[in-house]
Amino acid sequence: MLRQLAVLLLGHAQAEESVLYPALAAANEKAHAEIGYNEQALVKMQMALLETLPPMSQVFMDKLDHIEGAVLHHIYEEEGTWFPELQEKGEAQVTLTRRFKEEFERYVG
Ligand SMILES: [Fe+2]
Repeated sequence: MLRQLAVLLLGHAQAEESVLYPALAAANEKAHAEIGYNEQALVKMQMALLETLPPMSQVFMDKLDHIEGAVLHHIYEEEGTWFPELQEKGEAQVTLTRRFKEEFERYVG
């Protein structure tokens, strides 16, 4: 369960960091791309910490809650602001969609 969550989260991050954030930066939204990279780096660090905690302990559940909050906030920014910006100003939308899918599937399988 946690393994699956980690694979999905990291696959999503991998695809965004290789395809969507560079396109966002190229569309003159470099600041938003940088926030995206930073937030995803923080989530990766928290996920790595989570793996070291005793499963289902209180510290584990607290860490998981924290990660959930961070991911929800991140998705809110992406769906609410960054990706609409990319849709409006970005080049080659069809290529971006295809490349995103390729990267995601390469990681998630
Ligand atoms: Fe993301």
